[in-house]
Amino acid sequence: MSQAADHVAIIMDGNGRWAQQRGKPRLVGHRAGARRVREILEACPSAGVKYLTVFAFSTENWKRTQVEVSGLMLLFKRYIRRETQALIDDGVRVRFIGDRMKLDKVLVSLMDELELLTSQNFVVNLTVALNYGGRDEVTRAAQRMARDVETGKLAAKDVTAEVLAGFLDTHFLPDPDLVIRTSGEARISNFLLWQSAYAEYEFVDTLWPDFTANEFNQLLAKFGKRERKFGAVLA
Ligand code: FPP
Repeated sequence: MSQAADHVAIIMDGNGRWAQQRGKPRLVGHRAGARRVREILEACPSAGVKYLTVFAFSTENWKRTQVEVSGLMLLFKRYIRRETQALIDDGVRVRFIGDRMKLDKVLVSLMDELELLTSQNFVVNLTVALNYGGRDEVTRAAQRMARDVETGKLAAKDVTAEVLAGFLDTHFLPDPDLVIRTSGEARISNFLLWQSAYAEYEFVDTLWPDFTANEFNQLLAKFGKRERKFGAVLA
């Protein structure tokens, strides 16, 4: 029987190489990559994907050149300003995961506003990971949990996997069914570490700016034929 992937998460890799192959600055690749997000998002409803999560900026990406980091921050701001109306019209609910403390105040207010403006939408859920790292997320969750234990709101013996999951940035999301990484790298790079325990993975050679809805649909069809066991032995 064919199964649908409710939640697909994507590591959008290869923007820099795509630009370099064309003799262009890396930011040109990021701009082309941002345009792809719209195409993949639009393919979700008919493919039965209810949650799309994309890795836009990792806690390690601050180590890139200052030009690239500030260019990406500017791109995120422009993207939010430009796409807000289309996201509302298409019924997309947008949420962000990651640590907002280190992000520019203007960007954070645009993120907050977009979350609020799209909070009643339900056609598809887009989650953007921005200044996100899986270890950082679990560490921040452990700190919040420890504070609740200190103040007596939570007893240590009551800490279960479900309770911990409720402290993560992703507390509103189901676990991903399928994680896709583009550009030929077979690594998870600190993305959704806790949440992907039973996810299926697809590593494809296509660079992110060349990744089409057609290829996305092919990967979903392949996922539909996989047998998922979640650690069990099926009869
Ligand atoms: C990885 O390619 C890509 C990034 C670090 C940035 C991802 C950002 C976008 C696709 C644009 C914005 C997205 C949204 C949701 C507004 P890379 O630079 O590591 O490529 P390389 O491995 O070829 O150097």
